[in-house]
Amino acid sequence: MPDTSRPKTVTIIVDGKELEAEPGELVIAAAERHGIYIPHFCYHARMSPVGMCRMCLVDIDTGRGPMLGVSCMVSVSEGMQVTTDSPTVKKAQDGVLEFLLVNHPLDCPVCDKGGECPLQDQTVAYGPGESRFVEEKRHYEKPIPISDLVYLDRERCILCDRCTRFASEVAGDPLISFTERGNQTQVLTFPDHPFASYFSGNTVQICPVGALTAAPYRFRARPWDLEQRESTCTTCSVGCRVTVQTSRDRVLRYQGVDLDPVNWGWLCDKGRFDFEAIHSDDRLGAPLVRSEADELVEASWSEALDRAAAAIATAVERGGPSSVAVLGGARLTNEDAYAWAKLAKGVIGTDNVDCQLGDGLPAEALLGLPAATIDDACGADAVVLLGPDLKEELPVLFLRLRQAADIRRVALLELAPTATGITPSTAASLRYRPGEAAMAVRALLGDAPGSAAGLSPDDLSAGRAVLERARDGRLVVVLGRASLAESPEPLVDAAAALLAAFPQARFLTTVRRGNVRGALDLGLAPGLLPGRVTLESGGEWFREAWGSVPAARGLDAAGVLGAAAQGRIGCLVLLGADPLNDFPDRSLAERGLAGAATVVAVDLFLTESSRRADVVLAAAGYAEKAGSTTNLEGRISTLGQAITPPGTARADWMLAAELSHRLGADLGIESVGAAWDEIGRVSPAHRGLSWAVLQSPAASDGMLVPLPSAPVAVGAAGEGVDAGPEAVGGPEPEAPEGLEGVEVADVPEADQPEPEAPPAAALPEVLSFSAPPAGGQVPPPDSYSLRLVAGRTLYDRGTSLRHSPSLAALARPTVLRLNPYDHERIGVSGGRLRVSSSRGSVVVAAVADAAVPRGAAVLAFGQPDVAAAELIDVAAPVTDVRVETL
Ligand code: SF4
Ligand code: SF4
Ligand code: FES
Repeated sequence: MPDTSRPKTVTIIVDGKELEAEPGELVIAAAERHGIYIPHFCYHARMSPVGMCRMCLVDIDTGRGPMLGVSCMVSVSEGMQVTTDSPTVKKAQDGVLEFLLVNHPLDCPVCDKGGECPLQDQTVAYGPGESRFVEEKRHYEKPIPISDLVYLDRERCILCDRCTRFASEVAGDPLISFTERGNQTQVLTFPDHPFASYFSGNTVQICPVGALTAAPYRFRARPWDLEQRESTCTTCSVGCRVTVQTSRDRVLRYQGVDLDPVNWGWLCDKGRFDFEAIHSDDRLGAPLVRSEADELVEASWSEALDRAAAAIATAVERGGPSSVAVLGGARLTNEDAYAWAKLAKGVIGTDNVDCQLGDGLPAEALLGLPAATIDDACGADAVVLLGPDLKEELPVLFLRLRQAADIRRVALLELAPTATGITPSTAASLRYRPGEAAMAVRALLGDAPGSAAGLSPDDLSAGRAVLERARDGRLVVVLGRASLAESPEPLVDAAAALLAAFPQARFLTTVRRGNVRGALDLGLAPGLLPGRVTLESGGEWFREAWGSVPAARGLDAAGVLGAAAQGRIGCLVLLGADPLNDFPDRSLAERGLAGAATVVAVDLFLTESSRRADVVLAAAGYAEKAGSTTNLEGRISTLGQAITPPGTARADWMLAAELSHRLGADLGIESVGAAWDEIGRVSPAHRGLSWAVLQSPAASDGMLVPLPSAPVAVGAAGEGVDAGPEAVGGPEPEAPEGLEGVEVADVPEADQPEPEAPPAAALPEVLSFSAPPAGGQVPPPDSYSLRLVAGRTLYDRGTSLRHSPSLAALARPTVLRLNPYDHERIGVSGGRLRVSSSRGSVVVAAVADAAVPRGAAVLAFGQPDVAAAELIDVAAPVTDVRVETL
C-alpha cells in the first residue's frame, strides 16, 4: 500500500518567499533549488552532510521563534520560516569566516585556487572585512605530495571534511583522513600509504580552498585566463560530462560537470588527466606515406589521400569490395562513424567492418538486449554483475553502483571469475570457472546441476536469495567481458537465460571503449547498418538512401585479421585501431597486419600498428572537433571543440568524405550538422534527432536512443517541434520525452535541416534480441593447466596513457595472480614463472591472492611490461596455460 499519510511536498518560507520542498530535504538544498544561495564550505549535494564548517548558519523559526540553525543539517518542516540574511546570520558568518582565517596563510597570489576559491569569494561577500587576530599563523611543510597526482598544502585546509568524506564514502578509498587534535588537526595520508585512488582528482575539484592541488595543473593558469567548453569524456564509454578548459589553444584542465543521470560531477583520474596526450610531441600533424626506402615520410594531403584511395580502388578491382576491411571506430564521434559506415558500406560496398577489436560482445546482443540506464541499475531491486571489473574499466559506473549498494542498499549479485573492486559492496559474489558464465547462470536458475561451473550449494543459495528480490521487481544485468581470454558467447547465452527467467530484466552492456556504442549504432559492425538495423531488415531502406549496400554479411575483427593473414584483404583500414596492442590474440594480429596487401591508418599517433601502414592520415582528436558521442546507455551527448587540431590534422568524417570523392562518390556530408540531418532522416534509431536538437536545452542530459517515439524533427523557424508524420508515413508520433519543450529560439536558424524526402521503402524495425543457439562446450580443465583470466586495468599501455606523462608512470608492474593453493603447489618462491599456452609464452612474477579461485591464473591485459595477448587464442573458448618456475 502506498503511504498516503506523508505529504508530497512541504511548504517553507525562505526570506519571505514561499517554496515547495521535498519531505526530508535539507534547508540548504531546498533553498538552492529555488535560487536562494546559502554560503557553505563543507556541504556537498552528492555527499552526506556533516555540519563541519558552520558557514551555512541561518535563522530558522519552526514556531518557537528564530534561532540560528545549520542549514545543511536541518530538514525542512511544514511552515518553517528561514532567514538567510538577518543581522544575527550576518554576525555568525562574520565570526565563522574570521575564525577560518585565523590560520589560513592567505597566499592567494601563489595559490592555484585563487580566482575560483569559495573561501576568497565568501570572505569578500560575507566576511567581516578585517580580522582581530594578529598572532603568528600555524605553519606546515608546504606542499607535500600525497600521491603522484595530488599535492597537499595543510596550511590552507579549512577542515571541511569534503576530501575525506569523498575518499571513504564515494570512492571507497579511505586513504586520506584527519589526524591530530585541536589546533593541530590536519588532513593527512597514512604512513606508507599514498593517496593512490583512481578518483583522487575529484578531491582537488571539490576542495573549497587550494589545500589540494593537481600535479598536472599546478601553476599552469589562472581561472581568468581560461576559456571553457562543455563536452563529454570519451576515454571510456561511461560518458562523464566535463568542461574542457583551455588557454592559448592548449587544454589545461578538465573539470567534472554534474550530469544527474551519469556522473554526478565525478571523474576518474584517467579521464581527468589524460588531456596531456592531446599536446604530446608525438601527435601527428600531417599525413605520412611509405617511401621507396620503406620509411613513413610526411606528404601533402592530396598525395596521401590519392594513395589511400588508390589502395582501396585497387583492392576492390582485384578482389571485390570484400577485399577492403575497416577495423576500429570507437575513437570516432557519431558523425565520423556515420561517414565511415557510409563510405565502407554504401560507397565501397564492404561489410568487413568492425569497431570492436575482439574485446567486446556480439553487436546484435549489445544493441538488441532491452536496455537499462545507469539510473535504472542504481534504482533496481537487484543487479546482476556479469562483466568486467568496473573499477578498472568503467570507473564512474563503479562509483554509481557502489553508492547504490552501500547507501541505497541495492542488492548486487556478482558473478565473476575473480574478485573485483566492487566485490566488498555486493550482497553475494560468486566465482565461476573461467569460460563457464552461462553454466553458472543456469545453475543459479535451477537449469543445471548445483556443482556446475564451480559453484557450491552455499553460493547458489546466496545468489538465488538476491535474484528472488527481483522476482516481481526490477532486475538489471550489467553485462560485459570479465576476461579477454574467454570467448563472449557464454555471456550472450547467460543473458538469454536471465531474460527467459526474468522477462522484465534490463541490460546495461559494458563495452569499454569511448564511443563504441555510437560506432555500433551508426553501422560500424558486420551485418549492421546505421540505426540498429541489420543488413537483411534495413537493406532495402538503405539501398534507397545510399544507392547500395553490401551484398552479404561481412567479417568481424577476428575474421578480418584471419582473412588478411590468408592474403584475402587487399586494403586494411585502421580507424584509430591498434590491433597489435589491443586485439586479444597478438599472433593473429601480427599475421593479419603482415598479410594485408596495403594498410591505411587514420590516427592521432604512430602506434605499433600504424607504424606498419602504407599511408597514415593524421586525424583531429578529442577537443579538436565538434560532434557527439553515445555512452554505454545509448545516451547521445555533445562534444565541444575547444582548440584547433595540430598541424593540418582533420576530422575523421572529412577524411571519409575526401576518400569518397576520390572514389567517385559524393558522401553528401559537409559538416557535423549535415551529417545529423542525414542521420536523423535515414537512421531508424535516430529518427527525429538533429544537430540542433542535440545542442538544445532539452538535450542537456543527453538524448537516449532510440527515441521513445520517432520521428520528430525541429521544424523551420517559427514552427517549433514538428512531428512531421506525413513526411515519413505511419501514425502521428508524439514528441519524445524531453523534447516537448524544445523552442525554436534554442535552435540557430542556420542549423535547421532542409526538409528532404525520406526513402520510400518501409522503415525497418530496430534490432531486438533473439537468443542465439547455445554455444559450444567448454573443455573441462585438466589438472596440469590453469585457466587464464585476462581483464583490463585502468592504467595500461593504451595510447592516451602512454602519451600522458602524469599517468604513464602509474601502470603497475604486471604479476600473475594465483590462488595460494596453486601458488604453493607450483612452488613459486618469489621468483618468476614462464607461462605458456598453445599460442606463446611470457615470463612474469607470480603472487598468491586468495581472491583468485583455484585453477585460475589472473594476468592483466594490455600492460606495458607483459603482453597477455601473446597467450590468447581467440578461436578457443578458453585459454589454458601451463606454468613453470625459472
Ligand atoms: Fe576540506 Fe580541502 Fe581540507 Fe580536504 S583538504 S578537509 S577538502 S579544505
Ligand atoms: Fe572518462 Fe570513463 Fe573516467 Fe568517466 S569513467 S571520467 S567517461 S574515463
Ligand atoms: Fe553547513 Fe558546513 S555547509 S556546516
